[in-house]
Amino acid sequence: ARTPVTVTVTGAAGQIAYGLLFRIASGAMLGPQTPVRLRLLEIPAAVGAVEGVAMELEDGAFPLLESIDISDDPWAGFDGASIAVLVGARPRTAGMERSDLLAANGPIFTDQGAAINASAADDVKVLVVGNPANTNAFIAMSNAPDVPAARFTALTRLDHNRAIAQLAARSGAPGSSITRMTVWGNHSATQYPDISHTLIGGQPADRVIDDPAWVRETFIPTVQQRGTAIIAARGASSAASAASAAIDHVHDWVLGTAAGDWVSMAVPSDGSYGVPEGLISSFPVTCAGGEYSIVPDLEIGEFSRARIDLSVAELAAEREAVIDLGFAKRG
Ligand code: NAI
Repeated sequence: ARTPVTVTVTGAAGQIAYGLLFRIASGAMLGPQTPVRLRLLEIPAAVGAVEGVAMELEDGAFPLLESIDISDDPWAGFDGASIAVLVGARPRTAGMERSDLLAANGPIFTDQGAAINASAADDVKVLVVGNPANTNAFIAMSNAPDVPAARFTALTRLDHNRAIAQLAARSGAPGSSITRMTVWGNHSATQYPDISHTLIGGQPADRVIDDPAWVRETFIPTVQQRGTAIIAARGASSAASAASAAIDHVHDWVLGTAAGDWVSMAVPSDGSYGVPEGLISSFPVTCAGGEYSIVPDLEIGEFSRARIDLSVAELAAEREAVIDLGFAKRG
């Protein structure tokens, strides 16, 4: 067997973690050859509940699951972690503005960034799921000066997968035949699901769909509002699908994307496509050898340009807000 990999999951007593941990233990995230050591991080009030989750993980008798450690201290919780999935966050409650949400989450991701900096493994890869995911990842990155910035990413794979599901339903083609989907920008209602480079069965998606009004007026808003629609239907926010997308994100980052295809990940911008450097924004990426690269040289039409700019402007404003709040420094 291969060397075990230490995976830390925060918010381990929550809904998403309940969908995520069992799939990590089964090998769905790192492959069927890689043993896993789980570190579960929670706040003190939820440690009892995590102990229950750990009992259930034991009862899964997963051959790949080597050990489970529980902690309410980030410094212990990230010790030796090669993969860190940051799910735990302060949820938005009634009457909270987006600025209140940024303020409530700032201290959590400041501490966790510092703890990752101090105690994670040298090869740590970080995925932030907890919202506002892109900006929480930006705060963690800003507080981990010794970890390469490129290791901090945020989840937009759920939006990517939702877009593929909508295209499959509309075209009648299986989701597996839909490639080169791109989600740009923030994991928020301003995100831009872009089908201008997407292929359905190897053919340009806009030609297969042949209905630009549907793309503009139905497809894009449906993907942007899907989270809200799930809350309305289910009475709780998407959890199993978010967990599944987190599995996909880390799986592809570590094990690579399929030839000829790409996926969407929110990663620190290198200035590509006019996105200011350092903003954690969703891009089309390919992965190989444990590293991702932003897909270069895609043509961006006028319609796409305006939508990317809108979402990136929101990210820039969030960055300004958290710098003003003291969670990150300028430059
Ligand atoms: P949940 O409320 O069921 O679980 C969150 C857990 O995090 C709780 O058990 C809580 O005690 C824990 N937690 C809070 N602060 C913590 C800290 N400082 N350290 C460790 N644990 C901490 O919420 P759920 O449904 O699991 O969602 C988690 C987050 O994921 C939310 O912020 C949600 O908005 C976000 N989300 C993101 C998606 C994405 O696509 N990026 C999709 C769906 C949800």
